[in-house]
Amino acid sequence: MKIANRTFIISGGASGLGLATARELHNAGAYVSLLDLNADNGAKVASELGSRAKFFEVDVSSTDSIAAAIKGTVEWVKETGKEIGGVVAGAGVGLPGLIIDKKNEPLAIESIDFVLNINLRGTLDLIRQALPYMTTATPEGEVGERGVIIMIASSAAFDGQMGQVAYAASKGAVASLTLPLARDLSKYGIRAVTIAPALFDSAMTKMLGKKVKQSLYNAMEFPKRAGQPDEFARLVKECVENVMLNGTVLRLDGAMRMPARL
Ligand SMILES: NC(=O)c1ccc[n+]([C@@H]2O[C@H](COP(=O)([O-])OP(=O)(O)OC[C@H]3O[C@@H](n4cnc5c(N)ncnc54)[C@H](O)[C@@H]3O)[C@@H](O)[C@H]2O)c1
Repeated sequence: MKIANRTFIISGGASGLGLATARELHNAGAYVSLLDLNADNGAKVASELGSRAKFFEVDVSSTDSIAAAIKGTVEWVKETGKEIGGVVAGAGVGLPGLIIDKKNEPLAIESIDFVLNINLRGTLDLIRQALPYMTTATPEGEVGERGVIIMIASSAAFDGQMGQVAYAASKGAVASLTLPLARDLSKYGIRAVTIAPALFDSAMTKMLGKKVKQSLYNAMEFPKRAGQPDEFARLVKECVENVMLNGTVLRLDGAMRMPARL
């Protein structure tokens, strides 16, 4: 897909990996529709990026909230004439908890629902609601591409740690749905790719204690440091531009394999 003069919908676009993605695609000439729960950050980012960016306050665990943002994006696309070229589903949360704790209490179902509703249901719901506007977009290039869906899983999809059952379940599901999504969409010339990052600097990982971070660095092969959001965003750019990337999960992890416990 060409990036310039296409609109990309980016959930979680107001912070961390989603924000770096928004900047990277915007620099390459894209129009970016940023969907995020954090209205303060979203408004700041949209005003920094200027007229080729629009922010929508969205809770991806609410179907109506996504619907309003898609409607707003489609109206914006009608004004600009820059058709939707992709979705980057970046909104996500982590909420650690052992499946059964020291007091023999099972993990609260509310905690499991919270993580699955944002990371899994929210990802699929956003994709689902954006697709009718992508399948009808003008095909581009020799192979007739219409767009690309990029999802964010995690190392936890493969080697989740203690206390990560809900998070790992959500990210494992995102990894698993990548191939059937690509298969469903191939007839429309739309691709699906998932990136599974290890530890990256962001608001989410800022909250981790020094000891936890050090133990994660120790689990890394090379480089022994957290990934930088722009390193993530550069892979997103490649995923958009490289038509052979489809139906696959790309680990972006410096050969890190997470240990059972920190
Ligand atoms: N940073 C890492 O080390 C790392 C590693 C693996 C996977 N990931 C995944 O990458 C994605 C981005 O995370 P990040 O590290 O950039 O974190 P981040 O906290 O910096 O950004 C996440 C964004 O998602 C938004 N968000 C949260 N809940 C939302 C909701 N219900 N509706 C809409 N927006 C919501 C937040 O407001 C925030 O702006 C997440 O899916 C995360 O699980 C991150």
